[in-house]
Amino acid sequence: MSKQTLGLDTQLYDYLLSNSVREPEILWKLRQETASHPRGTMQISPEQGQFMRLLIQLIGAKKTLEVGVFTGYSSLSVALALPADGKIIACDVSEEFTAIARRYWQQAGVADKIDLRLAPGLETLDALVADGQTGTFDFAFIDADKENYDGYYERVLELVRPGGLIAIDNVLWSGRVADPQFQDESTKVIRALNQKLHDDERVTLSLVPIGDGLTLALKRR
Ligand SMILES: C[S@@+](CC[C@H](N)C(=O)[O-])C[C@H]1O[C@@H](n2cnc3c(N)ncnc32)[C@H](O)[C@@H]1O
Repeated sequence: MSKQTLGLDTQLYDYLLSNSVREPEILWKLRQETASHPRGTMQISPEQGQFMRLLIQLIGAKKTLEVGVFTGYSSLSVALALPADGKIIACDVSEEFTAIARRYWQQAGVADKIDLRLAPGLETLDALVADGQTGTFDFAFIDADKENYDGYYERVLELVRPGGLIAIDNVLWSGRVADPQFQDESTKVIRALNQKLHDDERVTLSLVPIGDGLTLALKRR
């Protein structure tokens, strides 16, 4: 987990923020509120939110998925970049965390773009597959419980269209993936997924060292 890009000292990180990040005021307010939340470090960083807004515009995404909402910074970032008829199906299990997200979606005027599904992410994704939505999503962001990352990836890969983009968060896991001392379940799952993706011919791949590491996997046509 990381609220800022790993490996930059404070001086350089401040420079990056003040010379590149254009954070809408509503996102800034949400970031301030989340900073005092006990689980606040789960939020993505502002430079990553901006990068995701750029990705949404770059691929002209309209129909998107998010697994792991928390207080809503990533979903609000994406929603602000989507066109007026854009949509996010947003998955989380926490009524408490997402109540904060819903408040900000309302304030930002994007609530009608976001369909929050409060259920285990795997169940929601399986229901979308069963509902015939395979191959219909332009973009998906995976940022929920790490133990299920492989299951999220496989389902999301089915749900995005050929040429659609999957973004997977926390793939550097504060450096723990590269340190053999760490053998906890979350670290092992992320390590295994990174290795699997490296060899996965179904996608074109790039691991971008922004935030806590963001893998971009473009579904091949
Ligand atoms: C790292 S946070 C998401 C951060 C968010 N993307 C942001 O930018 O602020 C992970 C979220 O995953 C949710 N979560 C945990 N287990 C889950 C599950 N089985 N299904 C769906 N969401 C889950 C948690 O409630 C939490 O809100």
